[in-house]
Amino acid sequence: MLTHRENESLTQIGPGTRAGNLMRHYWHPVAARAMLDRHPVHHVTLLGESLVLYRDKRGTLGLLGERCPHRGTSLAWGTIDNEGLRCAQHDWLFNSDGWCIDQPTEPAVSADSGEYRSTAYPVQELGGVVFAYLGPTPAPLLPHYNVLMWDDAIRETNGTVVPCNWLQVMENLLDPLHVECLHGRYFAYVLERKGGAQIKEFMALHHPAPMKKIGFDLFENGILERHVIGTEEDRSWRIGTPSFFPATSLIGGADKGGSVIFVVPLDDTHTWFLLLMAIRTGRPVFQESIPFVEVPGARENGGFILDTANGQDHMAVVTQGTTAHRDDEHLGTSDVGIVLYRQLLNEQMERMEGGQDPMNVRRDPTDHGIIDVPGGEQSLEPVDTRPWSRQRRRWAARHAEGQHGSRDREIDAQAQGTASPAPPPVVREHREVTLR
Ligand code: FES
Ligand SMILES: [Fe+2]
Repeated sequence: MLTHRENESLTQIGPGTRAGNLMRHYWHPVAARAMLDRHPVHHVTLLGESLVLYRDKRGTLGLLGERCPHRGTSLAWGTIDNEGLRCAQHDWLFNSDGWCIDQPTEPAVSADSGEYRSTAYPVQELGGVVFAYLGPTPAPLLPHYNVLMWDDAIRETNGTVVPCNWLQVMENLLDPLHVECLHGRYFAYVLERKGGAQIKEFMALHHPAPMKKIGFDLFENGILERHVIGTEEDRSWRIGTPSFFPATSLIGGADKGGSVIFVVPLDDTHTWFLLLMAIRTGRPVFQESIPFVEVPGARENGGFILDTANGQDHMAVVTQGTTAHRDDEHLGTSDVGIVLYRQLLNEQMERMEGGQDPMNVRRDPTDHGIIDVPGGEQSLEPVDTRPWSRQRRRWAARHAEGQHGSRDREIDAQAQGTASPAPPPVVREHREVTLR
């Protein structure tokens, strides 16, 4: 249970807030590249700030404050130029550093007077995702999560805007038991009520088995979630699923591919759940465009979609409220991951307030390699027992059948096991709960 004030300090991420200051030490996804391929100017929200993302005619990315510094018209209706974004209202032109570099309606340009500078933030593109950094300078290095870096992978992204606070979405990821219940028994209940053949397929694929044990390791860059359904030799316990601080999870092995989940706080009551999936081919892949699909969390009429894992998660976190009241919750022993994560948030905020970088902020260019699942081996065993694995299998089958781009069709989608094991995590603390 948290007091109202403690809850606010963990959940509110606008400028000047505690958690907002913490989140501003990290790069966050702000768009999928495919969104800019469709249209070069987008209104985006990140950490409670209203911004405009664009790619100009020379290909430079820029992220500016939404309001034009002249008289406040939204730059989201602006047009791109060779260099920068032009406001629709009087054609003033702003470059990616925020400077006004052209004022056609004025007798002379006062570009570097300091008066006409827009808010501007650094942006970088990697693996089909555009990342932004809204924090104090100098910006740290953009983490090289493996799924973003593989040059032999076919990638696809999808995202859902969830209308609730980011911490609810993150806590859901650190709650392995909901997989057994919500995506197991409840899923079966929903399919049974629907009737038809789907329930047989579901039971054959998932046969929801109870979890025997759950465990969490605090490692140098975040939290590793582990659980046992079969034996402790299973990957879900031996390797586990890492959540890199503050809100990035890596799922799956490395030689066949994997996924990365980014939980992005858009504002205090909206969260972007972004999933990037990659299948490795063993040969260099050039993807002209990396598909991005917006997955609705709910139906247009507001009803929940209860026969998909994504829709079930949406129901579970949205019905907790736009920001969950944690002063009337009753945590159980099995909520150990959630307790650990809240403690970690507080610890890292104190660290930041003491003038140090919080964990997983990377600044050393000599130690900027690919980030893999700690201790993850490169076997060809099935990599995932989580509910979205079914969606990934369908996607993999689609690619194997050649429904992707013409260039990709030349690629044999057979996985090649070549990579070496990732170093094991340095574990600071281990907590586990035996359930059955
Ligand atoms: S309001 Fe933007 S140029 Fe005038
Ligand atoms: Fe889930």
